Amino acid sequence: MLTDFIAQLPNFLAQVATTEVPVPHDLEIPLPIPEWALKLWVVPVFLLHIFFVNLMVGGALMAFVNEIIGLRFPRYDRLARCIGETVTVNKSLAVVLGIGPMLMMNLLYTIHFYSANALTGHAWALLIPLIITVFLLAYLHKYTWETWTGPRKGRHVLVGGAVAALFLFIPLIFLVQVNTMLFPDKWSQVKGFFTALQIGNVFPRYFHFVAASLALMGLFLAGWFGRKSFPVEEKLPEFTRPELRRHFYRWTFWVSCAQFAFGPLVFFTLPTQGITATVMLWIFGAVFVAILVLGLLWKEIHESDARIGRRFWPIAALFSLVVLGMGQGRHVYREAALAPHKEAIARKTAEFRSIELGTQMRIRTGLGAGDALTAAPSGKKLFAQTCAACHAVEKATSAPSLVEIHSLFKDNPAGIVSWAKAPGKKRAQYGPMPPMAHLGDDNLALIAAYMLEQGKGATAQPTAAP
Ligand code: HEC
Repeated sequence: MLTDFIAQLPNFLAQVATTEVPVPHDLEIPLPIPEWALKLWVVPVFLLHIFFVNLMVGGALMAFVNEIIGLRFPRYDRLARCIGETVTVNKSLAVVLGIGPMLMMNLLYTIHFYSANALTGHAWALLIPLIITVFLLAYLHKYTWETWTGPRKGRHVLVGGAVAALFLFIPLIFLVQVNTMLFPDKWSQVKGFFTALQIGNVFPRYFHFVAASLALMGLFLAGWFGRKSFPVEEKLPEFTRPELRRHFYRWTFWVSCAQFAFGPLVFFTLPTQGITATVMLWIFGAVFVAILVLGLLWKEIHESDARIGRRFWPIAALFSLVVLGMGQGRHVYREAALAPHKEAIARKTAEFRSIELGTQMRIRTGLGAGDALTAAPSGKKLFAQTCAACHAVEKATSAPSLVEIHSLFKDNPAGIVSWAKAPGKKRAQYGPMPPMAHLGDDNLALIAAYMLEQGKGATAQPTAAP
């Protein structure tokens, strides 16, 4: 067994060392709305979703911690209960608002999205049962607060712990998936969830996310419990409104300070292939605003009871800007990191399409597969195999006719060759022409000569024939 393994090892290592970046070909299906519109919306739509995810995760965690503190100091148990009440609402909003960005990711990054789903393996499929379980547990936790007391309190705390743990674990699966998407060059090394955990910088990103959840939930609760319509006297009689505000402001302040450690950790462990000037601009712009937020929070914490809370909305607005900047930076990073791979996919797709067309033409013109393109190539044969699917001599149904091509290129056959290697987009009435670079310059020159000859003959025809 072991000797077998050792014998196989060099083979295996050689394989790993030479595995190339997998480049699948794309589906040639047009997007239902323009790509720029999708790209414009994907960030705000995603942030709306992640906002409630943060509240859900932060809420579950804070409810759990406060319930434990509440075992010794009962007023924290009641606080935990009030926090817990927000979790089920926020989780419903998080899920509903998650559908939008998920569908948009499907459309914008189809190949990368599905590849990452498959590579994340069983963990990805596990999401559904896990989500169902945690939802049911969250409701159980919420509705047994009054009944599972005394000797049953331990059980109640345990359920709260399970809810918090699951709410912490589920985002990790999503994070691993979106992270895997970003690094196609690592795909051949990924064999399921646990290896996917090791690529890119999953853990720094995860801690950054969890801390963001706690900071955001703190700010949310400062507003939620601090608002005029919240019946503090009835629900949390052992606290005062200013006290609650200060408590959660302080929470947000210190966790946000910790982000100044987690943030750089994320940034400096990020593979550099996607870090561009634009990415830096968004991220550092957001960091600058974050410093302002910290300043305002500090002022609020040290404000008198009578005046505390006045800066809540400016803080919330600036905080949203921070999140927007970070979110946009993240999107720009993804775009830049994936650009080379997306180009490779486009090339592969065009190549695939032209080979497919060539094969169809070979079948239609009765040329056997054995008549490879390179075997005694003639302009006529090559044209029939690779261009005639779209280009006809006189008719211009799906591409310009040879007559038109002759009028454009009669003194410039090399122009045909260079166009065919990298076609542009000229005429609105036709779709794009697939690149034909794989044929090679020599073959394309033969085709060009043949095309011009045909086009020339045809121009003379209508005038000569009656
Ligand atoms: C899938 C269809 C398709 C195939 C196959 C195809 N073409 Fe085209 N070709 C087009 C279309 C469509 C245009 C017009 C593009 C435009 O104007 O935007 C075009 C335009 C051209 C032009 C005009 C360029 C110009 O500057 O106006 C040339 C030359 C040409 N093709 C050469 C070739 C050659 C050579 C081959 C075979 C090796 C080939 N095409 C195969 C669809 C095709």
